[in-house]
Amino acid sequence: MTMNRSIKQIIKGMPATDGAGVELVRVIGQPALNMFDPFLLLDAFRSDNPDDYIAGFPPHPHRGFETVTYLLNGKMRHQDNAGHEGVIEAGGIQWMTAGKGIIHSEMPEQEDGLLEGFQLWVNLPADHKMDDPKYQEFNAAQIPLEIREGAQIRVISGTTSQGLSGPVTQPLTEPLYLDVTLAPNATLSESIAQNHNAFIYGITGQTQIQSRVVNRDELAILNQGSELEIQAGADGSRFLLISGQPLNEPVARGGPFVMNTQQQIKQAFSDYQSGRF
Ligand code: FE2
Repeated sequence: MTMNRSIKQIIKGMPATDGAGVELVRVIGQPALNMFDPFLLLDAFRSDNPDDYIAGFPPHPHRGFETVTYLLNGKMRHQDNAGHEGVIEAGGIQWMTAGKGIIHSEMPEQEDGLLEGFQLWVNLPADHKMDDPKYQEFNAAQIPLEIREGAQIRVISGTTSQGLSGPVTQPLTEPLYLDVTLAPNATLSESIAQNHNAFIYGITGQTQIQSRVVNRDELAILNQGSELEIQAGADGSRFLLISGQPLNEPVARGGPFVMNTQQQIKQAFSDYQSGRF
């Protein structure tokens, strides 16, 4: 039997400052939503005031999970301690598996103009937290677009019900990461793995699921189910649709490290401080 997903809860982000003074909105990883397994954190940033973003994120470490940066506007330069460097541009995705340890910086590659995007943290299972770091990076032109009546879907990760797959793959959590744009009053039907944790995040306009409305900058946690029916409001809408396989493992957090036990967090700090990253 198919079951349509409904909205369980709507979460508003909390203003936060991170890095060297970047103003952002923390949506997952804050008191109202500590985590949503396997998602540990979601930051949204959107500003055309350089004071909000210019300080960027100077070198800092990560261990035990993946950071996923998706830019809608602007440019970010990243650089790591293994010599990997590049620029993420508007419409591009960087899916970084930090694994056992990486030290990187993430700095705006612009002095003015709009910077807008998201950073999502996706957990890794215990037996893969110490894997070697790796990247999956794709620019806007490399992300396939599915066009349906009234809908355009940028498929970053996972496979749509019409069979289009995104370039990012992660069999450990099977993430679905779609950037959906709907025409005014258009509807979209999509399948989501029954047991995945799934949410949508409103970017523009209003999005309705079973008569509940999700506004811009709101995250809607969805109940379990295999199908999703979405309708755009009178101005159309754009939103992220994200889901993943929950890991159901203990989570120990220590700033930029996410492991399973406090002992492993202590080890991460000690390894970082003694230059073993
Ligand atoms: Fe980072």
